Amino acid sequence: MRPQKFWVMGASSVLLGVTLLAWQLQSRAADDRLVMAPESEMDNSEIMAAKLTAAHRVLTGLVARDSAMIKGAGKDLVALCKTAAWRSVEEDPVYTHFSVEFQRLSERLVRLAEEENLDGAAYAYQGLTSTCISCHEHVRDVKPIQPASAVRPAN
Ligand code: HEC
Repeated sequence: MRPQKFWVMGASSVLLGVTLLAWQLQSRAADDRLVMAPESEMDNSEIMAAKLTAAHRVLTGLVARDSAMIKGAGKDLVALCKTAAWRSVEEDPVYTHFSVEFQRLSERLVRLAEEENLDGAAYAYQGLTSTCISCHEHVRDVKPIQPASAVRPAN
């Protein structure tokens, strides 16, 4: 085989390998994305599991410095906030506060990822995580408590 021909064959197989790898990476990223229309019929537990997955992907994106991944996961979080089941809990003012804060931080995360501001995105992610915990604390520990007027001893 002439060296020149050998070189062309080698180069084209490297090119094929790179193309396949890129395709694989792209389809993996696409698979991870949540396929969901806003106002969809997801129930509460599906929403919460999806929230956890999206938050995990934000963290993966932050450590890998992959702004596209952060942006995609942030968009999923924004979409989750708009589902009917998420909104249906919003009668309680404190829950509403955490919910609005969660959406605001998710939107901010998307914007910062678009601007490639990963330090800012990391900060927004920390805020999001603390909102997850605060809202859960409220839902679990505070909300079931009766209003103060109901437990105050009668004089
Ligand atoms: C605005 C309020 C709110 C925020 C913010 C919030 N959640 Fe939730 N989460 C809930 C409610 C309400 C439930 C259902 C609780 C129940 O059914 O007892 C829940 C349940 C869950 C569950 C299921 C828990 C279980 O016991 O099965 C997971 C997981 C979860 N949330 C993850 C997250 C993550 C991760 C975040 C942040 C990225 C987050 N949540 C932010 C309100 C919130």
